[in-house]
Amino acid sequence: MVNFDYQTPTRLIFGRGVVSEKLASVMNQYGKRVLITYGGGSIKRTAPGHDKSLYDLVKDTLTDKQVFELGGIQPNPKFNPSVLDGVRMCQDNDIDVILAVGGGSVLDCTKAIAGVAGTLKTKVTDNVEEAWDIVCGRKPTTAAVPIVDIITMAATGSEYDMGGVISRTETNDKLAYFSKLVFPAVSFIDPTYTFTLPVKQTLAGVSDCINHIMESYFCGDHIDMNDAFMEGAVKSLVKNVKIVLEDPQNYNARAEIFYATTLGCNGIYCLGNSPSGWPMHAMEHALSAYYDITHGEGLAIVTPRWMKHILDHSTGELHDQVVERIEKFGKNVFGAENAEASIKAIHDFYRNIGIPMTLPEVGIDDSRLAEMAKHVADNEGLDKAWAPLLEQDILEIFKACMK
Ligand code: NZQ
Ligand code: ZN
Repeated sequence: MVNFDYQTPTRLIFGRGVVSEKLASVMNQYGKRVLITYGGGSIKRTAPGHDKSLYDLVKDTLTDKQVFELGGIQPNPKFNPSVLDGVRMCQDNDIDVILAVGGGSVLDCTKAIAGVAGTLKTKVTDNVEEAWDIVCGRKPTTAAVPIVDIITMAATGSEYDMGGVISRTETNDKLAYFSKLVFPAVSFIDPTYTFTLPVKQTLAGVSDCINHIMESYFCGDHIDMNDAFMEGAVKSLVKNVKIVLEDPQNYNARAEIFYATTLGCNGIYCLGNSPSGWPMHAMEHALSAYYDITHGEGLAIVTPRWMKHILDHSTGELHDQVVERIEKFGKNVFGAENAEASIKAIHDFYRNIGIPMTLPEVGIDDSRLAEMAKHVADNEGLDKAWAPLLEQDILEIFKACMK
């Protein structure tokens, strides 16, 4: 078991009706000048069981505040314009707190806005590259505007972690931004807001969380207690996603899914495990940077191909570890008998719930696989992952995702 030093400062407020119950008192702990961030409009529709949209509820709650708005934040949120616009709004309006309302993309974008606005001493319009250096981690984040969020998508776990993922279109970069200063101060999680999620996003969110867990499970040093946490969380996701496909407004199933996804990217499932290097995320981030595909779909496609590749290409002690990990995961989650059956079980699970399982199905042909493999090899450090991958390995995995 490896050493760890763990702290999450985020207050989680979870359950039906928690936004109308507690948002006003939470927001009163901050100043009067509030920036609301949101996406393409899902928060303006009224969810079943509510008498108004989340947007209207928020606006009605903040009538005693001076409210500014940044809408239109896209999935795979972009540095330009969204992060830059948000930083400019914070600087121009002396924002006290940012309230992010939406999915992981809105919250990730908000984290970058909060960290850059808190750190940058000069106007962002004059210093775009310095802002990007902060997002990339080349310059440290020294302060951040406080963040409160109402998360409406069960997927990333951004509501309980200190990371955000930001895309810069001109360079095909999709990079993780980390700072302890951008942990949300308070996250509101009301599973009833996920009743309106399209099937595609429900499935992508479950796939994302399963993959966060697998990136933590498939590693060198691990302990039984963590294995049990993680196998239990994936079993819950596998069971509950089938329930919500039949019954999208099943509160308990939606709530269990949200509980798993909220904890899924925080590290709490795997304290004491050694790091894996997060290879599947590194490869998927290239797919969604180059082609703007849905993150959870890209992960589902990569997952069984990565498992098969490391099973076939690892040797010696690493191979023994790979076999043990794949077998244990597959046996305890799906009842699979051996490593090959485990890989098939996860592939079939995704296929059967309706996730596209090849790159052509999400609109990706083979013309840029080599370019993406090089990008990943040059930027993601996967040669130092638990199961190391060189450029050629990454290319083979991408090729295997074609069919
Ligand atoms: O933009 P709106 O109109 O709000 O619609 C969104 C969007 O189109 C919609 N949506 C969200 N909540 C909804 C809803 N539609 C109906 N009802 C609701 N309740 O869903 C679409 C996707 O939203 P998005 O925020 O993009 O999804 P997700 O939460 O999966 O976030 C994906 C992003 O997070 C990054 C991914 O790479 C991707 O950029 N990640 C962030 C992580 C983190 N912060 O820790 C870790 C992850 O591994 C991941 O990389
Ligand atoms: Zn993810």
